[in-house]
Amino acid sequence: MITITDVTKSYGDETVLGPVTGQIAKGGVTSLVGPNGAGKSTLMTIIGRLLEPSEGSVTVGGLDVQAAKSRDLAQMMSILRQENHITARLTVRELVAFGRFPHSQGRLTDEDHRHVDLALDFLGLGPLAERFLDQLSGGQRQRAFVAMVLAQDTEYVLLDEPLNNLDMKHAVLMMRRLRDAADELGKTIVIIVHDINVAAAYSDRIIAMRDGTIAYSGTAAEIMRSDILSEVFDTPIEVHELAGRPIAVFDPMAQSVTHDAVRTDEESAVASV
Ligand SMILES: Nc1ncnc2c1ncn2[C@@H]1O[C@H](COP(=O)(O)OP(=O)(O)OP(=O)(O)O)[C@@H](O)[C@H]1O
Ligand SMILES: [Mg+2]
Repeated sequence: MITITDVTKSYGDETVLGPVTGQIAKGGVTSLVGPNGAGKSTLMTIIGRLLEPSEGSVTVGGLDVQAAKSRDLAQMMSILRQENHITARLTVRELVAFGRFPHSQGRLTDEDHRHVDLALDFLGLGPLAERFLDQLSGGQRQRAFVAMVLAQDTEYVLLDEPLNNLDMKHAVLMMRRLRDAADELGKTIVIIVHDINVAAAYSDRIIAMRDGTIAYSGTAAEIMRSDILSEVFDTPIEVHELAGRPIAVFDPMAQSVTHDAVRTDEESAVASV
């Protein structure tokens, strides 16, 4: 289980997160959703100890994230950040092997090689294994980074927008793979996704964030409601049932307040010409 207790993050006078208190149950897939700037990445990077909270504490699998030894934590939890700017000229296989570092400390054993091969296979990267990262498409590179995180073989896996750059087929494949990792390997998967329909289709739980706090949290069925989604995303969203699943649809004519203001300016500009 992940426990989050009174966590806040401030930059100068501005508090961008919290206070957040909550739990993410062990096992299954939990999706963090919410508009840009809601605090999703901030919360995830604090859970992953890549960012220090201003206040509060987090435990993952019983380890106090602030106090635990790096190696213990790295064997319990892996995290993929939203932005990955590795500039070194590495092959896909070399990148994925980095995921084994907490286990091997740089000297790969047979067991490490087995995990690297498994992770490459898991995401269909076998044919690309010897390619350099700068010879890949954006979506292929994204899969390589997720493979690196999975090769770490931790109980808890945190992924910030793993579907970035993926086409529909590869997004579905990635989600099925993450589901398998939860169902068959018993892992606890926490992902940030923007497509609420993808979140609903593959998650056991959804945590909806807004303005630095958890606005709603529950099963997909509990969160997939027009009133909840419209409030969280600040735009009219309808929820329909299709093939037995709740599907959120946006109103193509919807205009946000900001957009209306811009329009009015444009209209007045046109009028004054
Ligand atoms: N280093 C920083 N200094 C100041 N403000 C920051 C910093 N990092 C993030 N923020 C602010 O914190 C808020 C939350 O950012 P965060 O990256 O957590 O949002 P998010 O929910 O992940 O959004 P997105 O969907 O766009 O990735 C934003 O308003 C952002 O501008
Ligand atoms: Mg983010």
